[in-house]
Amino acid sequence: MIRPADLIERKRNGEEHSPEDVAELILAYARDEVPDYQMAAWCMAVYFKGLSGAETFALTDAMIRSGDTLDFGTALGRKVVDKHSTGGVGDKTSISVGPIVAACGVPLGKMSGRGLGHTGGTLDKLEAIPGFRVELTTDEMVAQLRDIGVAIVGQSAHLVPADKKLYALRDVTATVDIVPLIASSIMSKKLAAGADAIVLDVKVGDGAFMKTLDDARVLAEEMLELGRRAGKEVTCLLTDMDQPLGRAVGNALEIREALDTIRGEGPADFTELVLDACARLLAYSDLGIDVDEGRRRAETAVSDGSAFAVYERWIRAQGGDPDPRALADAPVRRSVPAPTAGVVSRVGALAVGIAALELGAGRRTKADTIDHSVGVLCFAKRGDAVLEGDDLAEVHARDEASAAAAVEAVLAAYTIAGEAPPERGIVLDVLA
Ligand code: URA
Repeated sequence: MIRPADLIERKRNGEEHSPEDVAELILAYARDEVPDYQMAAWCMAVYFKGLSGAETFALTDAMIRSGDTLDFGTALGRKVVDKHSTGGVGDKTSISVGPIVAACGVPLGKMSGRGLGHTGGTLDKLEAIPGFRVELTTDEMVAQLRDIGVAIVGQSAHLVPADKKLYALRDVTATVDIVPLIASSIMSKKLAAGADAIVLDVKVGDGAFMKTLDDARVLAEEMLELGRRAGKEVTCLLTDMDQPLGRAVGNALEIREALDTIRGEGPADFTELVLDACARLLAYSDLGIDVDEGRRRAETAVSDGSAFAVYERWIRAQGGDPDPRALADAPVRRSVPAPTAGVVSRVGALAVGIAALELGAGRRTKADTIDHSVGVLCFAKRGDAVLEGDDLAEVHARDEASAAAAVEAVLAAYTIAGEAPPERGIVLDVLA
């Protein structure tokens, strides 16, 4: 094998690697034959010099080959669709989307992650449901997909182990925010999990990795290209993460909101994103329908209660209690009153995400434990008119001191202006 030091030097000098060299480097790293310090130096060289499309595909392919792959399509005899979000504040989309598409006759089996920092993880949210098991064997998952149509589980340690190692290294070496490395990290996991078609929700804004629409488009194009090279159908939704998604931020609060949305009583922005994602997943499925018909079917599954019935069966199948009254309630609730009348022009997603993290809804390090009951409800969103003293938000806390700090932080996340900001929908662009 070519020496890692030579590859680092070549990348530092802006040269393009052969696909074979990329594969050897990644597979050797996964086998612990390349030390972290050399891999970190290579990632930093990539940060400055980038990767070509061919190099990014070789990286993605090698990461997939570093571990096991799944094939639900063969096990179920169906075309398999999947969705993924690049992560944001209040993002409980999969928890609503799963039961809705399953109620429409399309199985959705997902491997989800945990939250780190200000963004929450779907697994942590599901664990707010008493008894819910995030670990299923592949056979259990296939049986549940056949029987109920939805299963959301933790990622197997054997799936894309090279990414697991590389992501942990990037996290501590300032090399996370590099488009080809993010794209290959996300797509390797989706492709290894056996999806035939993928809907990617690329978050844009202050609470997301990608702060601007232009940056988000670059990441989306890179992931679309990886999908194309792998022969898969991919759609990227670029969606707003300049304010929290929906109202709820925090694990049990988000489960309640996901459930409200499945019953047709969710907040407008979150409902729109859920139905849009469902429509596209259904259009990609083997039902043979287009996006408009997918939307109609998703809306019907919500309005006729069939999505809610699937939710209850799904949660019970994974050991949980689907009754929202079983979710933990935080002992302290404090309102965040509007200091003045006007129109909300901004609800900083990052600030609200950090406030929820400080309350105990997230973890700063992998070892932290989560308090599922705490979080923030943002009642007023961008464009809403408020009177002085109206509840902008409500903090759910474990004690008075953390509640007081969060009230201050959430208040600082709000800007109230004299006039309404320009209207902006939740889906900013769609790339396919
Ligand atoms: N999510 C991932 O899975 N990988 C990244 O690199 C960034 C976000």
